[in-house]
Amino acid sequence: MPSQVRAEQPVTAAETVRQLRALATPEGTAALARAGRLLADRTDVVTALSRLRAEFGAEVGGPAWGVARQREKARPAFGADTDRLLFTGDTLEQAGRPELAARRAARLLAGGVADAVDLGCASGTETIALARAGASVVAVDRDPVARELTAHNVAALGLTAQVRDADVVELVAAARDGRVADCTAAVLDPARRAGGRRILDPDGWSPPWSTVTELLDRVPRSVVKVAPGLDHDRVPAGVEAEWVSVGGSIVEALLWGRGLSSTWRRATVVRSGQVHELAVDADPGRAPVAAPRGWLHEPDPAVIRSGLVATVAERLGATLVDGQIAYLTSDAPADSPWVSSYRVTDVLPFSVKRLKALLRERGIGRVVVKKRGSAVEPEALVKQLRGKGEGRAVVVVTRVADVPTVLLCEP
Ligand SMILES: C[S@@+](CC[C@H](N)C(=O)[O-])C[C@H]1O[C@@H](n2cnc3c(N)ncnc32)[C@H](O)[C@@H]1O
Repeated sequence: MPSQVRAEQPVTAAETVRQLRALATPEGTAALARAGRLLADRTDVVTALSRLRAEFGAEVGGPAWGVARQREKARPAFGADTDRLLFTGDTLEQAGRPELAARRAARLLAGGVADAVDLGCASGTETIALARAGASVVAVDRDPVARELTAHNVAALGLTAQVRDADVVELVAAARDGRVADCTAAVLDPARRAGGRRILDPDGWSPPWSTVTELLDRVPRSVVKVAPGLDHDRVPAGVEAEWVSVGGSIVEALLWGRGLSSTWRRATVVRSGQVHELAVDADPGRAPVAAPRGWLHEPDPAVIRSGLVATVAERLGATLVDGQIAYLTSDAPADSPWVSSYRVTDVLPFSVKRLKALLRERGIGRVVVKKRGSAVEPEALVKQLRGKGEGRAVVVVTRVADVPTVLLCEP
């Protein structure tokens, strides 16, 4: 089904393109501004749509409301650009974070590279980042709605890009001399969702995995966004794999082509706007295992997904509490971006009854439950453990030497 901007029934791609063009006119711009104000005033959808249609006509009023709603969703990530950009629901769902696209563009263009292609531009996040970084950009998509959005969004920000209708599979197959679509650098972000659902098998992405590896083989200066759950065995030799988290959640994984690759694996952690990178040239293997000590460290998901827990363990003088589980322990707290640290007050075998008794004894009435290697439902356990005490604690449910165990920690 093509993307749509209307709040109503599905429309064709040609109709969506027509609506987007209408929104780019002065009247469309006024309708979008009005829709934005109605949303800010929390006007209900029926009233808002009838006012917009009365003031601007049905052809512009309905689509203006649809785009205004997408802009509200986009605002936290797109900030000051938001009100100049057009999105559809589909393209916004697939859009990456502009600040990470900017970081990627800088690395892709380092050393004075002047031209780059965005292979599958959607609403243009990568194209915009590349153009802002000073590249001459080609943006490719086979979806006419995506091309319309990218062309509009690039121009709305005062940038330029050449937007082309082409099949990425064919372009990559035709890549020669390290170049694709006449460009030295390339970013590929395959579609990994269909019908609102994630496609887990990389062969089912669009373009598929075979195009991903072909691009990495043929164009050394390329970067591909992949699913954070990508199996490490798939990472081609000589290609750097990077996992990026923001605020403690994994947001993207990248494969850097051999002309850009500078390490084996990289974990990038963005916390409070600060970027921390941990790069390792070879598989660090497994961290040693030992009994829980005074401090528990929960590695950031970028560290876990990139396979760098043993590297962090070594740096912190820490050990795993169990060979299969990514919780670390040491005698001291860690002032490190790679982990969150908690002081351990008690270690006991998992038993709700014993735990409740201990919490009562300590005057703890509210807990946060964290778990790894356990089937407990954190929300259910939080309710079960709620008591009268004023105290707070973190309850970590895990396994230690394969035994279900609770580590009671200070918040
Ligand atoms: C995940 S989206 C890209 C999102 C974009 N990087 C962003 O951050 O906004 C993938 C895009 O690739 C396009 N696409 C998928 N397969 C393609 C193909 N074989 N040829 C051209 N475009 C394709 C889709 O139409 C879609 O717009």
